[in-house]
Amino acid sequence: MDYSKLGFETRQIHAGLNRDDATCSRGNAIYPTAAYRFPTCEYAADLFELSQPGNIYTRLQNPTNSAYEERVAALYGGVGAVATSSGMAATLVAVTMLASKGDNIVASPFLYGGTYNLFRHTLPRLGVEVKIAAEASAEAIGALIDDRTRAVFAESMGNPTCAVPDLAAIAAAAAGKGVPFIVDNTFGACGYLCNPFEWGANIIVDSATKWINGHGTAMGGIIVDGGNFNWRNGRFPEIDGPSEGYHGLNLCDAFGNAAFIAKCRVDGLRDLGTCPSAFDSYLMMIGLETLSLRVRHQVEATRRLAEFLRDSEAVERVAYVGFEDHPWHANAEKYFRFGGGAVLNAELKGSLESTVKFVEALKLAAHMTMIGDSITVVTHPASTTHKQLSAADLEKAGVTPTLLRISAGLEDPADIIADFQQAFHAAGLC
Ligand SMILES: Cc1ncc(COP(=O)(O)O)c(C=O)c1O
Repeated sequence: MDYSKLGFETRQIHAGLNRDDATCSRGNAIYPTAAYRFPTCEYAADLFELSQPGNIYTRLQNPTNSAYEERVAALYGGVGAVATSSGMAATLVAVTMLASKGDNIVASPFLYGGTYNLFRHTLPRLGVEVKIAAEASAEAIGALIDDRTRAVFAESMGNPTCAVPDLAAIAAAAAGKGVPFIVDNTFGACGYLCNPFEWGANIIVDSATKWINGHGTAMGGIIVDGGNFNWRNGRFPEIDGPSEGYHGLNLCDAFGNAAFIAKCRVDGLRDLGTCPSAFDSYLMMIGLETLSLRVRHQVEATRRLAEFLRDSEAVERVAYVGFEDHPWHANAEKYFRFGGGAVLNAELKGSLESTVKFVEALKLAAHMTMIGDSITVVTHPASTTHKQLSAADLEKAGVTPTLLRISAGLEDPADIIADFQQAFHAAGLC
């Protein structure tokens, strides 16, 4: 079915939905299987030669995972998707399918901490250099691209800063040098708030653990191929060249504009083993059915919370990208539906101790390292994610002792505001 003419809300339900199951069941089946019987040896040989599509082994593909991948590809308008066991796995697979020892990646400085560690420590140990630009401008990023650059990487909205780089300008800088642009679009809510393909990105990675799942019930990631990059420009012999693992098969010849996503599956999942379980893919599909409704509520709840916090005597400063005084407000307006997003940062008055008291006094909002959940989440970086940093490094990272990251959930915002109010009182902040 051609989903491209259907609205987002229709695609999030119908793309990948089971239609031809002999049971006529409404929902997709979960296939808890590791392997698949081959009716003949010839059929099996064709599968292994990649001349025949079909299921070989769940590390490579699974019918539940395929249905979920089809849904996400349809939401983004991509030519294909590969589901992974986590958001970090999606980034790992995407990047290592492009860059080999001696190559490099150029990245925006506004990165999730886990991605920063992968780029700063693990990839260099494998011989892949990651050049993190001093700023997120197209000029700063473009200037770092050289003959060994295999990808440019940025988050559409950085975690936790909510920095929104100029996606179109960075895409143009990468395209001008024949390099694909990978966007981590976790904050873009699977294309509902932001679709980087519309701005020239070539590959999207997403932590499905967050808004796609939406209920904090499973880990997952997904890679989506826009099918809009010329892999035949001489920079990518592993994609446009003989594949050692498949008797010299050229992936561009075999898969056309879906060559990259094919590589993520046939080499990436095969060799790195980062497949999700069918059950988790099922949960992702259920999550996606209500994505737009949830996210719309969360964006509105974030705005209400931000306004309440801005007016509260317990709060020193609110950093919400939907407010005009936020440094990335203009780009958020341009690239994000509703111009907001569903995460904000707030610095409380008082001390580390009073902030800890506030967090511990919350009765509804949960203290976790999570975003995009149906439960409102308050994270205190100084006592959790950034606990190991020295005072100087905390200052450099912009993490003050009273800073909180807040991800709005699906509750009635009035109840969350009341919960914050009582916790401010309990902490002696007002
Ligand atoms: C922007 C971003 N990218 C990637 C990840 C990693 O995803 P996961 O935790 O699913 O591995 C996260 C996790 O918070 C994230 O916020």
